Amino acid sequence: MKLTLHIWRQKNPSTKGKMVRYPVSDVSGEMSMLELIDVLNEQLIGKGEEPVAFEHDCREGICGSCGFMINGVAHGPVPATTVCQLTMRHFKDGDDLYIEPWRAKAFPIIKDLVVDRRAFDRIIASGGYIGASTGSAPDGNAILIPKDVLDRAMDAAACIGCGACVAACPNASAALFTGAKVAHLGLLPQGQPERHSRALSMVNQGNSEGFGNCTNIGECEAVCPKEIRIEVIGRMNHDFIAASWKSRDRFSLPDLFARWGTGSRLKTEARVD
Ligand code: SF4
Ligand code: FES
Repeated sequence: MKLTLHIWRQKNPSTKGKMVRYPVSDVSGEMSMLELIDVLNEQLIGKGEEPVAFEHDCREGICGSCGFMINGVAHGPVPATTVCQLTMRHFKDGDDLYIEPWRAKAFPIIKDLVVDRRAFDRIIASGGYIGASTGSAPDGNAILIPKDVLDRAMDAAACIGCGACVAACPNASAALFTGAKVAHLGLLPQGQPERHSRALSMVNQGNSEGFGNCTNIGECEAVCPKEIRIEVIGRMNHDFIAASWKSRDRFSLPDLFARWGTGSRLKTEARVD
C-alpha cells in the first residue's frame, strides 16, 4: 500500500516548523506507525537528509515514551492504542496521514515530533509517591484490600504518562494524568497518610507548570491509550478540596481555590495551536 505522510519538521525550539510531505510505498499492514517512520528515516538518511525525530522505547504500549497526533487525534484513530502499537492495516491505500507533535505550552517542542514532557516528572516529584519507609516488599496478603478498591487503584496505575490527554484537551489540562496518579496512591492503605498533601502539591505543581484547568470536556478519556476514566479527576478534586480545608490555617481559602480555579486557565493560555 502507498501512504502519504505529512510530518511536522522543526529543527529546534527556536526555529519555525512546517509540514513536509513524504510519499511512502510498499507499506505493509503489519508495520507499526513507528516502524513506518523507521523505514522513512532509512530512506531520508540514504538521501543524506535529516531523519524525523520521534520518541520511543518499549514499542509495546507500556513505557509512555511515544505519542503524536495523527490526523488530529492523539495516538491516532484506534482507541486504547499507542502509536507504537498502531498497525498500518487500520489505514487504506492512498491515505494521507498528518503527523504532528503534542501541542501545549507546558510541553515545548524539542525537535520534530519530540516534546519536552518533564513537566509531568515535576508533578510526580511534587507528591506522586509514598514517603513512609515501607521496608522490604511485604507479603501480598499482609494488608487486605477490598477487590473493588484494588481494581480501581490498578486501573488508575495503568497511566503510562504519555501526555495524550494534555494534547487532546482544548485547555491543555493535565487533570487526567494527575488524577490517575492521585487516585492510584490515594485509594491504597499505604497512600493514606499523604493523601491530602499529595493532592494539594500535585495540583499546585500542575498549575505552576502552565497546564490548563479541567472543564469536563472528556477528550482526555476518549484518547487515553490506557482507558483511564475521567472519574479520577473527580477523586482528585475531592481530595484537593479536603486538603484545602485541612490547610485553612496555613493558606487563605480564596488563595487555594484561586490556584485550583476550575476554568481559570483555558485554551488561550495553555494551548499552542
Ligand atoms: S492519563 Fe492516559 S493519556 Fe494521560 S498520560 Fe496517562 S496514559 Fe497518557
Ligand atoms: S514506545 Fe513505549 S509506549 Fe510506545
